Amino acid sequence: MLPAALLLLIASATAFPTEGNHHPHDITWTTCPTSFETPSPIDWSNPLPNQSTGLALAKAPARNITQRIGTLLFNTGGPGQSAIEELIGNGTGFIPFSDTLRDRFDIVAIDPRGVGCSDQIFCDAGMYNEVVKLTTFPTTEDEFEQQVVMNRRFVTTCSCPLVTHSDSRTAAQDFEAVRIALGDEPLNYIGLSYGSMIGTAYLELFPHNIRSMVLDGNVDHSQLQPYAVLTEARAYEDVLTKFFAWCDEDESCAVHNTTLTTAKLWEDLIARAEREALPAPACAGTSSCLPTVSASDLILNAQQYLTYKPPLQRIAQTLSWQSFAQNLHDAYHNHNATAFSIPIADSTTTFASLATTCGDFPPTLTFSDLLNLQLLLNTTTPLTRGLSTSHSILTSCLGWPYHSSNPPHVPFIRDVSTTVLQVNALWDPETSFDWAVALGSEIPGARLLARRGVGHTSWGLMGEAFGLMEGYLVEGVVPGVGRVVDS
Ligand SMILES: *[C@@H]1O[C@H](CO)[C@@H](O)[C@H](O)[C@H]1NC(C)=O
Ligand SMILES: *[C@@H]1O[C@H](CO)[C@@H](O)[C@H](O)[C@H]1NC(C)=O
Ligand SMILES: *[C@@H]1O[C@H](CO)[C@@H](O)[C@H](O)[C@H]1NC(C)=O
Ligand SMILES: *[C@@H]1O[C@H](CO)[C@@H](O)[C@H](O)[C@H]1NC(C)=O
Ligand SMILES: *[C@@H]1O[C@H](CO)[C@@H](O)[C@H](O)[C@H]1NC(C)=O
Ligand SMILES: *[C@@H]1O[C@H](CO)[C@@H](O)[C@H](O)[C@H]1NC(C)=O
Repeated sequence: MLPAALLLLIASATAFPTEGNHHPHDITWTTCPTSFETPSPIDWSNPLPNQSTGLALAKAPARNITQRIGTLLFNTGGPGQSAIEELIGNGTGFIPFSDTLRDRFDIVAIDPRGVGCSDQIFCDAGMYNEVVKLTTFPTTEDEFEQQVVMNRRFVTTCSCPLVTHSDSRTAAQDFEAVRIALGDEPLNYIGLSYGSMIGTAYLELFPHNIRSMVLDGNVDHSQLQPYAVLTEARAYEDVLTKFFAWCDEDESCAVHNTTLTTAKLWEDLIARAEREALPAPACAGTSSCLPTVSASDLILNAQQYLTYKPPLQRIAQTLSWQSFAQNLHDAYHNHNATAFSIPIADSTTTFASLATTCGDFPPTLTFSDLLNLQLLLNTTTPLTRGLSTSHSILTSCLGWPYHSSNPPHVPFIRDVSTTVLQVNALWDPETSFDWAVALGSEIPGARLLARRGVGHTSWGLMGEAFGLMEGYLVEGVVPGVGRVVDS
């Protein structure tokens, strides 16, 4: 039913960027999956005709041509999520498209560099899987140096030059090239989570030709890295505490127990993992995840389960408070911590994600900076020790040897041709509301819609916030200043 209804078309283009016009062009659409790439120069600041990379696109054409508004591009973050998979699955990931959006927009999925069907970044997976086992908390100069050396040794196994040119600024330039190639209509864009980084870079580079832009779950690229890590740590700890309170109160929580608080259970489990890594039996003997779970793996992998509180129809089973509680129950009572095991690098998407995050957040901290930051994190966020996605970016990019064309900076944005709509939950465990407020102050005229609730991003909930985002994209209606919704 779905493929026919979706009428998915995959772009096939062979045209090459020519002098003075570095845009892929002459995209022809064919039914999938024949050939699917449109070339972009590897380095937008120095486009060479002999150095290009293939970007995969997929299009679901507007179903009602008389009502068509334009083309809608999107990115659901990660980084590393395949937009093409999202479009084919219609929200099995994070972004279901309503009938109205399907009727009125050509929806075009771009797999960013290294992701999904686009040209891949290849690295030594075996070495990657060793590097992820290194300590998250280097406590001596030697351990820190070992991390730097191992990271660097691993990164130099990755295929150049893509690994050095996959930051969010480059992605924004790719998106612009696709927009122009698709007929040069004004941009409509939805950026979820890390996809807001592409949106921000786009606003900085190409502010003039935007019809609409939604940023749902906002990353603020203007902070020094210690602030980014601290802010996310507090956001995660805050929501984790709310989850504990819910479990203590609600009998439907799998670890609800009148004599053992959920916070105590969490602390016991971490202490147990610190003594000896927890078994992940479903991973044993497979090549999909590590067979044991360390305390830091547990904390890092728990964060994703706070994405949505209510079980959602499609992604419900894996990313909700109910499943988090069940996973804790399995780990604590059944010696089964499989749900918290680190996935083994089995797809190059892991490497694309690393290339993007290290390009956007190149390392700046010395050993003593890291030690001081870790002391603060241990003290202010004792339940999580400050471990989060931002912390992982920090430690996995130590030793990154390449120049970045997109390090953290206050974006210089002006003359934006539209009102950018930001959406953020007040209690978001990953992209803190703090970031949304800060980013809003960097985008002239931006409007921030708050959702009074927990969770990371609001689109997938298909509630009031979604309705307002849809109304904005379709009718251009901007929610009022200070608007707060409950779903
Ligand atoms: C690409 O072209 C440039 C300039 O013409 C040249 O210097 C470079 O060696 C070429 N690179 C490859 C990989 O052929
Ligand atoms: C397309 O939209 C027009 C105008 O609203 C409407 O009259 C028509 O029935 C729609 N066509 C389809 C196939 O839904
Ligand atoms: C996509 O999912 C949404 C939410 O479940 C649903 O309303 C919509 O009809 C779906 N669209 C398609 C084309 O299947
Ligand atoms: C509640 O926790 C206690 C340990 O404090 C344990 O003995 C008991 O079995 C737990 N009850 C349930 C229903 O899991
Ligand atoms: C352990 O948990 C996983 C899911 O987290 C499940 O698939 C598996 O069946 C469980 N039990 C064993 C013994 O692997
Ligand atoms: C922070 O906590 C971790 C985990 O308990 C520990 O290994 C590390 O040494 C602590 N770091 C500092 C600087 O206190």
